[in-house]
Amino acid sequence: MSLAGRELILGVTGSIAAYKAVYLLRELTRLGASVTVCLSEHAREFVGALTFRTLSGRPVLTNLFDPQSEDAVEHVALAERADAIVVAPATANLLAKAAHGIADDFLTTLLLAARRPLVIAPAMDGGMWEHPAVVANVATLRGRGVAVLEPDAGALASGLSGKGRFPEPDAIVEAIRRALTPVRDLAGERLLVTAGPTREPIDPVRYISNRSSGKMGYGLAGAALRRGAAVTLVSGPTALTPPPGAVFVPVQTAEEMREAVLQHLADATLVIKAAAVADYRARQAAPVKLKGKRDLTLDLTPNPDILAEVAARRTGAFIVGFAAETHDVVAHARQKLESKGIDLLVVNDVSQRGIGFDAEENEVLLLDRWSGQKALPRMAKADVADAILSHVLALRASAAVKKVARER
Ligand code: PMT
Repeated sequence: MSLAGRELILGVTGSIAAYKAVYLLRELTRLGASVTVCLSEHAREFVGALTFRTLSGRPVLTNLFDPQSEDAVEHVALAERADAIVVAPATANLLAKAAHGIADDFLTTLLLAARRPLVIAPAMDGGMWEHPAVVANVATLRGRGVAVLEPDAGALASGLSGKGRFPEPDAIVEAIRRALTPVRDLAGERLLVTAGPTREPIDPVRYISNRSSGKMGYGLAGAALRRGAAVTLVSGPTALTPPPGAVFVPVQTAEEMREAVLQHLADATLVIKAAAVADYRARQAAPVKLKGKRDLTLDLTPNPDILAEVAARRTGAFIVGFAAETHDVVAHARQKLESKGIDLLVVNDVSQRGIGFDAEENEVLLLDRWSGQKALPRMAKADVADAILSHVLALRASAAVKKVARER
């Protein structure tokens, strides 16, 4: 995909790497893009606007509140004219504002107004990139479809060494190219995905549940929507906002999840069960709040196995399950894959810190019913979601090829 003739906005924020944005601008204009540069106030402390103005041949935008300025441009109109927006370098502060919709200067207001592909190339010092707040903000942005690049590792401006260096211009250009050519390889697919925990009432105020946040399932829904699929998201209670465009079916209990899944199963071409369904429920939830300090024995009964039931219906959909394991991971997972009769099992070892339940990242093993096995590295859940979807497409294509070969 050529950048020639493309309208880009380059946002630059106040990092010591701001001078590298000059080289990026030169490369973008060399490739034929028309670039409007938007500097944050702090970026101007590092590099003067004149440098960007000279290289871009355009006024440089900095101030939202100066209508007298001869360079004044309306941020909404500017955002609409652009084919893509790239913020490079982006500070931790910019990531936080973008993730939380804070619009207190020209650049952040433009980001909020824009409905264009957004590429962010972070650069920061020390342990900032690994700080939980930054990790969470990056996950939020990626979950929204923003291409947040990984910074490079190496010597940092502070004299420390670590991850935080401005990515190479080539990597940023490649990310812009990709953002301009969104992959629509799931167009025509209908994904039914489950997410989050279920809640099984014990009495009107208490329930049995688990630590699933829904992030993995919502990540899959968002990734599939971006790639052109129609998505139905059946979700247990979570604190997340469903991705725009999904048919959202909120449920509480495993029974409700089963009903919702079976109701939407008929026209699904792909089913992914990322939900952590409670295995048991109270045989009889108490109608009033349980009182007293005596020992209490709960009479539990198993919930229906929704995934096994879906697979047994053989609707023709490709069926993917998840397995949360803590020990003998591969052996338990293989057994689960076979007993449930599904096509692919995504296995997370939830005994590991930083992945699985309520984490921003995941590291999974993909086991398929044709005896294949593929380990994915630790990644943001949005990236794991994309990798799972790509793997499903590849498996389905190769299974179809093998079937044709067998029938010949
Ligand atoms: O939600 P997050 O915080 O992002 O965390 C993600 C996750 C860890 C919850 C997710 O990656 C995951 O592993 N989900 C499945 C967890 C689980 O319940 O594993 P399981 O081994 O108990 O179940 C295996 C499969 O059967 C799952 O696809 C589950 O949805 C399904 N199942 C289980 C029990 C049941 N009664 N009905 C089911 O359909």
